[in-house]
Amino acid sequence: MKCGFQTKTVETIGLLSKKKRVAALKKAGYNLFSLDSADVYIDLLTDSGTCAQFDTQRAAAELYDCRYAGSKSFTRMKKTVRDIFGFEYLLPCHQGRGAENIFNRAMIKPGRFVVGNYHFDTTRAHIEDKGGIAKDFPVRELFETQSTYPFKGNIDLEKLSFHFDQFAESTAYVLLTVTCNSGGGQPVSMENIRAAAALAHKHGIPLFLDAARIFENAYFIKKREKGYAKKSVRTITRAMASLCDGMLMSAKKNGLVHMGGFIALRNKDLYDRLLPFLILHEGFATYGGMASRDMEMLAVGLTEWSKEETVGYYIEEHVAYLGKLLKDRGVPVLEPFGGHAIYINVKEFLPDIPQEQLPGQALACALYAEGGIRTCEIGTSLAGRDPATNKNRYPRLELVRLAIPRLALSKDHLLYVANVIEAVFKKRASITGLMFDTESPILRHFLSTFKPIQ
Ligand code: F0G
Repeated sequence: MKCGFQTKTVETIGLLSKKKRVAALKKAGYNLFSLDSADVYIDLLTDSGTCAQFDTQRAAAELYDCRYAGSKSFTRMKKTVRDIFGFEYLLPCHQGRGAENIFNRAMIKPGRFVVGNYHFDTTRAHIEDKGGIAKDFPVRELFETQSTYPFKGNIDLEKLSFHFDQFAESTAYVLLTVTCNSGGGQPVSMENIRAAAALAHKHGIPLFLDAARIFENAYFIKKREKGYAKKSVRTITRAMASLCDGMLMSAKKNGLVHMGGFIALRNKDLYDRLLPFLILHEGFATYGGMASRDMEMLAVGLTEWSKEETVGYYIEEHVAYLGKLLKDRGVPVLEPFGGHAIYINVKEFLPDIPQEQLPGQALACALYAEGGIRTCEIGTSLAGRDPATNKNRYPRLELVRLAIPRLALSKDHLLYVANVIEAVFKKRASITGLMFDTESPILRHFLSTFKPIQ
């Protein structure tokens, strides 16, 4: 059956005058995280916790059981996680970074490595916070902006093997981020997960998924990897999980909840090691960091989003739709299009602004000033400083991410976005770089302020 979606609840949004937008930007210190959402017309800052929800989720919310211990809501969520992913042990957390905190407290000793395809920023921060060393081994195709390689999220197996030859003893675990958010929302192939897991397991090292967008990854495997066309998103998801020792989940993406997350594990010993940290930092074993209403909605959200008709509609009719509109207008965007976002290639959009002058942040500000669109820099500001040398990290890809809230926008909104970006592209020569006004030492893109370079 071909699926469509209709709206049941609406929210009014408004577009400030250009003068007011420019003033709001200045007041926010050119940091879009500091804008009031009331001052934003189309919010593409994140796809996290911004989804529309299914009526089935809202109905399930009423079944909530808020008792402290042994809640029925936890039992239902645990059963759904086991049915979909096959993991027996569940630790509910308030969101992805809650899970990262608990997990790394138990898994990392100072100086130990965590290697992956490309760690997300909060993941890296939690690893470094516990004294660990986060290493990324993306494949070279990820940085080849002209390449249409279908699995740019893959981990480079040669580099992984080389790392193990030297540091297997001091590697805590491998983490594959599916899809790879910091690398353009690109998927990891089943073949790559299988090979990485075999390598890791050969050295006695466990492998986990950062599974925030696992159904979108599974959909891409179905569409692009040989042998999976006839398999369902659910079957592919289960096969991905079966290769791994567990998963960390920010459920604000593929769980379709506004707040929530979890760790799911195959191994009871590891669960037993993590549990005291969960109780200390999040909450008791059967709710952790989650409200029981959210546990109910998460269980149904996972079920809804693991259907090809829903996740596929979002990827093709919203994300790729915007990608095509921009491409047709000559705007440089990363291809293949990501699962949850379109990424503007800033080095091509603003070739004359060097990375020292934060061109990604400058472009994100220009898009807000032009049309009230809030986006997110995934570039030099976000990359932060190397903890060992304190030097700025200059990422090979300087990007502005247009994250699409799941099923919350219409195609008209996306057309408006494309037209605004086209207008900015036409006058890109007038955009100037930015510098830090105040620089926050941790996760600086959230908290720093900037000023235009005169
Ligand atoms: N892992 C990945 C791959 C993520 O994209 C995020 C969050 C997290 C972990 C942390 O989860 O926010 O629930 O604590 N990504 C959001 C984003 C913030 O906008 O991409 P969280």
